[in-house]
Amino acid sequence: MKLSICVGSSCHLKGSYDVIEELKRLVKKYDVEDVLELNASFCLGHCSDGVSAKLDDELITGLNPENVEEIFLKQVMPKIKESK
Ligand code: FES
Repeated sequence: MKLSICVGSSCHLKGSYDVIEELKRLVKKYDVEDVLELNASFCLGHCSDGVSAKLDDELITGLNPENVEEIFLKQVMPKIKESK
């Protein structure tokens, strides 16, 4: 699976760099390095919705360094488990 985090200018200003750093930590913490690939992506067209990301074709918005673990557990981990 691929998780692409927007690094467009708006998301960058909202902290996408920190979101990516946090995701790198989570991928290690939950030991999913071999099934989840992290990428950076250009603007996803949801600039006003907080930091945006795409999990394969599914859009995730409103990410920030504080809520990223919660969203990761709610939206990303179930998909990873389904795909195993
Ligand atoms: S800059 Fe991230 S969605 Fe536009």
